[in-house]
Amino acid sequence: MIETCLYHIRGVMPGDFNDIVDLDIKSFEHPWTGQEWTARGHDAKYAMSVVTYFGSIVAVLVIRKASTRMVELCKLMVKYRHRGKGISRSLLKVAEDYTRRGRCDRLFAVVPEHRIYRDHPNSLITWLKKTGFEARTPFLKDHFESCGDSEDGVKFVRKL
Ligand SMILES: CC(C)(COP(=O)(O)OP(=O)(O)OC[C@H]1O[C@@H](n2cnc3c(N)ncnc32)[C@H](O)[C@@H]1OP(=O)(O)O)[C@@H](O)C(=O)NCCC(=O)NCCS
Repeated sequence: MIETCLYHIRGVMPGDFNDIVDLDIKSFEHPWTGQEWTARGHDAKYAMSVVTYFGSIVAVLVIRKASTRMVELCKLMVKYRHRGKGISRSLLKVAEDYTRRGRCDRLFAVVPEHRIYRDHPNSLITWLKKTGFEARTPFLKDHFESCGDSEDGVKFVRKL
């Protein structure tokens, strides 16, 4: 699915976390702290994959089994220069395989409210539609919190 054979998908290794934290800060308004990454990296409920390009990390996927039916897409981020090449679709395939192996039939993601509006420069609405996610209402009150600020979340579900 990724357009060139220079990209490689593999599991996360302990030495990856500095690069992952850096990519998270550059990709999200509500990044996890280094401590949160370390804790989740040690937590068996979370599964993490990275995409490398000439050995450097350019994309990250974090998923977790959230219930008997559902797997949460906790993080999916692609470094800016590598977007639009099908990397997210390849990582969603990894997430789908994990979901089926766990006998689940749905993937979900919670998106900060401001990113569902089409006029926002970082709107995710087209990407979510193209990759098969549908919105669930109502919004999740104050789902995202960092530095004293909070924001509602919108849950999107993709049936497998
Ligand atoms: C959203 C994100 C993961 C997309 O990754 P990507 O590797 O560039 O996406 P892909 O190349 O696999 O594109 C998949 C489809 O979505 C479309 N798409 C991707 N980004 C898009 C955007 N910003 N706006 C509109 N469409 C977009 C592509 O055209 C493609 O559709 P097509 O196959 O029909 O042509 C990436 O922009 C990113 O990391 N953003 C910051 C982190 C984030 O918001 N993650 C989402 C968490 S829910």
